[in-house]
Amino acid sequence: PTVLVLNGPNLGRLGSREPDVYGAADLAALRRLLEAVAPEGWNVDLRQTDDEGELIGWLHEAADSGSPVILNPAAFTHYSYGLRDAAALVTKPGGTLIEVHISNPHARETFRHTSVISGVATGVIAGFGFDSYRLALLQVLASA
Ligand code: DQA
Repeated sequence: PTVLVLNGPNLGRLGSREPDVYGAADLAALRRLLEAVAPEGWNVDLRQTDDEGELIGWLHEAADSGSPVILNPAAFTHYSYGLRDAAALVTKPGGTLIEVHISNPHARETFRHTSVISGVATGVIAGFGFDSYRLALLQVLASA
């Protein structure tokens, strides 16, 4: 089986982007971490885009394939109703979408306190750095 690990805008800059908030490791390191956790037979398909339409297309793909999704919507978290509606397609009965954040948005600026995604997510993990993704993957594996 495949788990889709989808990352929104500016997360391609991890490693150099605000390392005090997001740490010094990049997406390649995240991919290695998750591949080390995934058991034999599981494919970790990690992607990043700055494009809202592309991210929505990937959620449509997951809705069609039934693959579980770990989603860091990045700044789209806070305002993209289009992404929310696409996430709801994935979590239709039987589907899994876990919203993750590296930082704890609730401990940051007020505009980050609102997630338009959480209401249609299966669950949310935030504030644990890359371990937010690792914990989400463990949950996907536990419920598969
Ligand atoms: C983020 C938090 C968002 O508020 C921010 O826009 C991001 C990253 C996180 O992983 O902590 O780009 O989703």
